Amino acid sequence: MSIIGAGNVGASTAQLVVQSGLADVVLFDIANGMPQGKALDLAEACPLWNSSASIRGSNSYTDTAGSDIIVITAGFPRKPGMSRDDLLHANADVIKSATAETSRVSPDAVIIVVTNPMDVMSQLAWRVSGFPHNRVIGMGGILDSARFRTFVAFELGVSPEDVEALVLGGHGDQMVPMPRFTTVKGIPITRLLTKEKIESLINRTRHGGAEIVSLLKTGSAYYAPAASTYLMIKAILLDEKRMLPCAAYLDGQYNVHGLYVGVPAVLGENGVERIIQLDLDEEEKKNFEHSVSAVRSLVAKLSI
Ligand code: APR
Repeated sequence: MSIIGAGNVGASTAQLVVQSGLADVVLFDIANGMPQGKALDLAEACPLWNSSASIRGSNSYTDTAGSDIIVITAGFPRKPGMSRDDLLHANADVIKSATAETSRVSPDAVIIVVTNPMDVMSQLAWRVSGFPHNRVIGMGGILDSARFRTFVAFELGVSPEDVEALVLGGHGDQMVPMPRFTTVKGIPITRLLTKEKIESLINRTRHGGAEIVSLLKTGSAYYAPAASTYLMIKAILLDEKRMLPCAAYLDGQYNVHGLYVGVPAVLGENGVERIIQLDLDEEEKKNFEHSVSAVRSLVAKLSI
C-alpha cells in the first residue's frame, strides 16, 4: 500500500500499519528526503516491534505502482481560526495531482481520502481517478464518532471502549452526531444523560478538530485521524466487512444523489460494499440535510 503525504497524519498512519505488520508501505511526499528519512526511522523500529513489514520513502509516484490501497493525506492542515473549508482550493490542486498520478500506476487500488475538506476531496478523487465509487472512500465519520465516544466516556466516567457512537453527514461543522444511535454497552445515552448535556457533547464533537487546532497552533490533529485511517485500511485489506461511518458516494440512499457524505458503510476488500440505511426522525433528517447542503455547496465551488 502507499501513503501520499508523509506529514503528521501520513507518518502516523504509516507507523500503525508497519508496527502492526499489516502491510508493506511506500511513503510518498514532495518534500525531498523527508519521506525517506521517516521511512528509514520506521524501518529501524520494525525489529523492535517484531514486525516483518517493510517501508520505504519516495518522491516518485512510480514507486507507488501496483498498490492495493492508496491513502491520500497530502495537502495543507488547518491553522487556528481556519475551518476545514478554508483549505478548499489549495488542497484541491494537491488532490488532483496525487489522484491522477496514483490512479494511473495503481488502477486496481482502493483510495482512502483524508485531506480536508474531506467529503469534497473524496468527490474530486473519485472524478479524477475514474474509479468505481466503491473504490474511493473518505475518512471522517470514524474520527468524529471516536471524538463523540471520548467525550461521552469523559462525561460518564466509563471506558471509551464501552461507548459506541455514530456521526453522520459531512466532516465539517454541520456534522450530525446521533444520540439515538450512541450507546454505552447497548444503553442509549438519551437514557443516561440530560438533553442539555448531550447537546454540549454534540457541540464539542462538532468542534473537536478545531479544539485541537487551537491548542496545537501549528497544525491539526493526527493521532486519532491516523488511528481512524488504520481501521479502514485493516477492514479493506483483511476483508473484515466492518461497519464503519465513512464518506461514501450516495446514489439515492438517504435521498442524496451523486454526492460523497458520511454514512455507515460496510468495508471489505471491494472498498464500500454496502451502505446502511437508517430511518431518521424529523430532526435528524433536517440536520442531515443541512450538512449535505454544506457539502454540496463546496462541491459546486469546485465545479465537480
Ligand atoms: N504531493 C504530495 N505531498 C504533498 C503535496 C503534493 N502536491 N503538497 C503537500 N504535500 C505534503 C507536505 O509536504 C506535507 O508533508 O503533505 C504533507 C502534509 O502533512 P502535514 O502538513 O503534517 O499535514 P497533516 O497534519 O498530515 O494533515 C494532512 O489531513 O487531516 C487532514 O486537514 C488535514 O488536509 C490535512 C491533511
